[in-house]
Amino acid sequence: MKEVVNGIYETNKMKVEIRENIVSKTFKKVGNYSKRYTREKTSLQRLSESSLFPKLVSFDDKTNNIKMSRIPGSQPESLSENQIDLLRQMVKSMHDAGVARHAIPIRDLLSSNDKELGMVDFERVTLKRFSFSPIWLIAKKVSNYHLCRLMKEHQSHLLSESEQIFLEKINKIRNTLQKIKHIKSKLKSLFS
Ligand SMILES: Nc1ncnc2c1ncn2[C@@H]1O[C@H](COP(=O)(O)OP(=O)(O)O)[C@@H](O)[C@H]1O
Ligand SMILES: [Mg+2]
Repeated sequence: MKEVVNGIYETNKMKVEIRENIVSKTFKKVGNYSKRYTREKTSLQRLSESSLFPKLVSFDDKTNNIKMSRIPGSQPESLSENQIDLLRQMVKSMHDAGVARHAIPIRDLLSSNDKELGMVDFERVTLKRFSFSPIWLIAKKVSNYHLCRLMKEHQSHLLSESEQIFLEKINKIRNTLQKIKHIKSKLKSLFS
Protein backbone atom coordinates (compact mmCIF):
# COMPACT_ATOMS: atom_id res chain seq x y z
CA MET A 1 0.00 0.00 0.00
CA LYS A 2 1.16 3.54 -0.84
CA GLU A 3 2.14 5.84 2.00
CA VAL A 4 1.95 9.58 2.52
CA VAL A 5 5.48 11.00 2.09
CA ASN A 6 6.06 14.66 3.00
CA GLY A 7 2.34 15.31 2.79
CA ILE A 8 2.09 13.79 -0.70
CA TYR A 9 0.38 10.52 -1.60
CA GLU A 10 0.84 9.64 -5.27
CA THR A 11 -0.20 6.65 -7.38
CA ASN A 12 -0.54 6.18 -11.14
CA LYS A 13 -4.18 7.27 -10.80
CA MET A 14 -4.05 9.97 -8.16
CA LYS A 15 -2.08 12.78 -6.51
CA VAL A 16 -3.17 13.74 -3.00
CA GLU A 17 -1.41 16.72 -1.37
CA ILE A 18 -2.04 17.07 2.35
CA ARG A 19 -1.49 20.60 3.67
CA GLU A 20 -2.14 22.03 7.11
CA ASN A 21 -5.90 22.54 6.69
CA ILE A 22 -6.59 21.63 3.07
CA VAL A 23 -6.21 18.44 1.07
CA SER A 24 -5.93 18.65 -2.71
CA LYS A 25 -6.85 15.55 -4.72
CA THR A 26 -6.12 15.39 -8.46
CA PHE A 27 -7.43 12.54 -10.60
CA LYS A 28 -4.88 11.72 -13.30
CA LYS A 29 -6.34 11.17 -16.75
CA VAL A 30 -6.19 7.37 -16.75
CA GLY A 31 -8.98 4.77 -16.94
CA ASN A 32 -12.41 5.85 -15.74
CA TYR A 33 -11.01 8.94 -13.96
CA SER A 34 -13.88 11.16 -15.01
CA LYS A 35 -16.49 8.92 -13.38
CA ARG A 36 -14.40 8.59 -10.19
CA TYR A 37 -13.83 12.37 -10.04
CA THR A 38 -17.54 13.12 -10.49
CA ARG A 39 -18.52 10.54 -7.86
CA GLU A 40 -16.12 11.99 -5.28
CA LYS A 41 -17.15 15.60 -6.03
CA THR A 42 -20.89 14.78 -5.87
CA SER A 43 -20.45 12.73 -2.67
CA LEU A 44 -18.65 15.62 -0.94
CA GLN A 45 -21.36 18.03 -2.11
CA ARG A 46 -24.06 15.73 -0.72
CA LEU A 47 -22.21 15.18 2.58
CA SER A 48 -21.40 18.84 3.20
CA GLU A 49 -24.05 19.15 5.95
CA SER A 50 -22.33 16.58 8.17
CA SER A 51 -19.33 17.27 10.43
CA LEU A 52 -18.11 13.68 10.04
CA PHE A 53 -16.76 14.15 6.50
CA PRO A 54 -14.37 16.54 4.73
CA LYS A 55 -15.92 19.81 3.54
CA LEU A 56 -15.71 20.51 -0.18
CA VAL A 57 -13.72 23.75 -0.54
CA SER A 58 -13.47 24.01 -4.35
CA PHE A 59 -13.25 21.91 -7.50
CA ASP A 60 -12.02 22.27 -11.07
CA ASP A 61 -13.68 20.13 -13.74
CA LYS A 62 -10.91 20.89 -16.24
CA THR A 63 -8.04 19.60 -14.10
CA ASN A 64 -10.16 17.08 -12.12
CA ASN A 65 -8.95 18.64 -8.90
CA ILE A 66 -10.86 18.68 -5.64
CA LYS A 67 -9.90 20.75 -2.61
CA MET A 68 -11.41 19.70 0.70
CA SER A 69 -10.86 20.29 4.40
CA ARG A 70 -8.28 18.12 6.13
CA ILE A 71 -9.46 15.49 8.61
CA PRO A 72 -6.95 15.38 11.49
CA GLY A 73 -5.23 12.24 12.71
CA SER A 74 -3.97 9.03 11.19
CA GLN A 75 -5.25 5.57 10.33
CA PRO A 76 -6.52 3.89 13.53
CA GLU A 77 -5.15 0.46 14.40
CA SER A 78 -8.38 -0.65 15.98
CA LEU A 79 -11.83 0.85 16.50
CA SER A 80 -13.23 1.64 19.95
CA GLU A 81 -16.93 1.37 20.91
CA ASN A 82 -17.20 5.13 20.44
CA GLN A 83 -15.67 4.95 16.99
CA ILE A 84 -17.98 2.10 15.96
CA ASP A 85 -20.86 4.29 17.05
CA LEU A 86 -19.50 7.14 14.89
CA LEU A 87 -19.09 4.73 11.99
CA ARG A 88 -22.75 3.75 12.30
CA GLN A 89 -23.68 7.44 12.22
CA MET A 90 -21.48 7.96 9.14
CA VAL A 91 -23.09 5.11 7.20
CA LYS A 92 -26.55 6.39 8.15
CA SER A 93 -25.69 10.01 7.17
CA MET A 94 -24.27 8.79 3.87
CA HIS A 95 -27.39 6.77 3.06
CA ASP A 96 -29.63 9.70 4.05
CA ALA A 97 -27.58 11.89 1.69
CA GLY A 98 -27.78 9.34 -1.15
CA VAL A 99 -24.20 8.03 -1.01
CA ALA A 100 -23.38 4.33 -0.52
CA ARG A 101 -19.75 3.18 -0.29
CA HIS A 102 -18.69 -0.06 -1.99
CA ALA A 103 -16.19 -0.81 0.80
CA ILE A 104 -14.96 0.74 4.05
CA PRO A 105 -11.21 -0.03 4.27
CA ILE A 106 -9.63 1.10 7.52
CA ARG A 107 -7.04 3.10 5.50
CA ASP A 108 -9.86 5.52 4.61
CA LEU A 109 -10.55 6.23 8.30
CA LEU A 110 -8.60 8.81 10.34
CA SER A 111 -8.51 9.53 14.04
CA SER A 112 -6.52 11.52 16.58
CA ASN A 113 -7.81 9.56 19.58
CA ASP A 114 -10.25 6.74 20.32
CA LYS A 115 -13.21 9.13 20.71
CA GLU A 116 -12.98 10.62 17.22
CA LEU A 117 -13.24 9.32 13.69
CA GLY A 118 -13.24 10.79 10.20
CA MET A 119 -13.70 9.23 6.77
CA VAL A 120 -12.19 10.09 3.38
CA ASP A 121 -12.20 8.81 -0.22
CA PHE A 122 -15.60 8.77 -1.92
CA GLU A 123 -14.74 7.77 -5.47
CA ARG A 124 -16.01 4.18 -5.22
CA VAL A 125 -19.63 4.81 -4.32
CA THR A 126 -23.13 4.46 -5.71
CA LEU A 127 -25.06 7.72 -5.84
CA LYS A 128 -28.82 7.55 -5.32
CA ARG A 129 -30.89 8.69 -8.29
CA PHE A 130 -34.28 7.57 -6.96
CA SER A 131 -35.23 5.78 -3.72
CA PHE A 132 -36.44 2.46 -5.11
CA SER A 133 -33.73 1.98 -7.69
CA PRO A 134 -32.66 -1.69 -7.33
CA ILE A 135 -28.99 -0.69 -7.70
CA TRP A 136 -29.33 1.82 -4.85
CA LEU A 137 -31.04 -0.74 -2.57
CA ILE A 138 -28.25 -3.29 -3.23
CA ALA A 139 -25.52 -0.64 -2.75
CA LYS A 140 -26.96 0.23 0.69
CA LYS A 141 -26.89 -3.45 1.66
CA VAL A 142 -23.26 -3.66 0.52
CA SER A 143 -22.17 -0.73 2.68
CA ASN A 144 -24.16 -2.06 5.65
CA TYR A 145 -22.36 -5.37 5.17
CA HIS A 146 -18.97 -3.62 5.34
CA LEU A 147 -20.07 -1.76 8.47
CA CYS A 148 -21.03 -5.10 10.08
CA ARG A 149 -17.69 -6.63 9.06
CA LEU A 150 -15.78 -3.83 10.80
CA MET A 151 -18.02 -4.19 13.86
CA LYS A 152 -17.41 -7.95 13.95
CA GLU A 153 -13.65 -7.40 13.72
CA HIS A 154 -13.34 -4.64 16.31
CA GLN A 155 -16.34 -4.71 18.69
CA SER A 156 -18.28 -7.88 17.89
CA HIS A 157 -20.48 -7.55 21.00
CA LEU A 158 -22.05 -4.43 19.46
CA LEU A 159 -23.59 -6.42 16.58
CA SER A 160 -27.32 -6.88 17.07
CA GLU A 161 -28.87 -10.30 16.48
CA SER A 162 -30.28 -9.23 13.11
CA GLU A 163 -26.91 -7.75 12.08
CA GLN A 164 -25.20 -11.04 12.95
CA ILE A 165 -27.70 -12.99 10.86
CA PHE A 166 -27.27 -10.53 7.97
CA LEU A 167 -23.46 -10.79 8.17
CA GLU A 168 -23.53 -14.61 8.17
CA LYS A 169 -25.98 -14.71 5.28
CA ILE A 170 -23.85 -12.43 3.08
CA ASN A 171 -20.63 -14.25 4.09
CA LYS A 172 -22.21 -17.53 2.94
CA ILE A 173 -23.21 -16.00 -0.40
CA ARG A 174 -19.69 -14.56 -0.84
CA ASN A 175 -18.08 -17.93 -0.03
CA THR A 176 -20.32 -19.71 -2.53
CA LEU A 177 -19.52 -17.14 -5.22
CA GLN A 178 -15.82 -17.53 -4.50
CA LYS A 179 -16.05 -21.34 -4.82
CA ILE A 180 -17.90 -21.02 -8.13
CA LYS A 181 -15.17 -18.65 -9.35
CA HIS A 182 -12.50 -21.15 -8.30
CA ILE A 183 -14.26 -24.04 -10.08
CA LYS A 184 -14.75 -21.88 -13.19
CA SER A 185 -11.06 -21.01 -13.37
CA LYS A 186 -10.09 -24.69 -12.82
CA LEU A 187 -12.37 -25.72 -15.70
CA LYS A 188 -10.96 -22.94 -17.85
CA SER A 189 -7.41 -24.13 -17.25
CA LEU A 190 -8.44 -27.72 -18.15
CA PHE A 191 -9.74 -26.61 -21.53
CA SER A 192 -7.10 -24.08 -22.46
N1 LIG B 1 -9.54 15.09 3.61
C1 LIG B 1 -8.49 14.41 4.03
N2 LIG B 1 -7.94 14.66 5.25
C2 LIG B 1 -6.86 14.00 5.69
N3 LIG B 1 -6.23 13.03 4.99
C3 LIG B 1 -6.70 12.72 3.76
C4 LIG B 1 -7.86 13.39 3.22
N4 LIG B 1 -8.09 12.87 1.99
C5 LIG B 1 -7.16 11.92 1.78
N5 LIG B 1 -6.31 11.83 2.84
C6 LIG B 1 -5.16 10.91 3.00
O1 LIG B 1 -4.66 10.53 1.73
C7 LIG B 1 -4.81 9.12 1.51
C8 LIG B 1 -5.18 8.87 0.06
O2 LIG B 1 -6.39 9.54 -0.26
P1 LIG B 1 -7.62 8.75 -0.90
O3 LIG B 1 -8.69 9.74 -1.17
O4 LIG B 1 -7.96 7.59 -0.05
O5 LIG B 1 -6.98 8.26 -2.28
P2 LIG B 1 -7.12 6.84 -3.04
O6 LIG B 1 -8.36 6.94 -3.82
O7 LIG B 1 -5.92 6.74 -3.92
O8 LIG B 1 -7.18 5.74 -2.00
C9 LIG B 1 -5.88 8.68 2.51
O9 LIG B 1 -5.78 7.32 2.85
C10 LIG B 1 -5.59 9.61 3.69
O10 LIG B 1 -4.49 9.14 4.45
MG1 LIG C 1 -8.26 5.52 -0.23
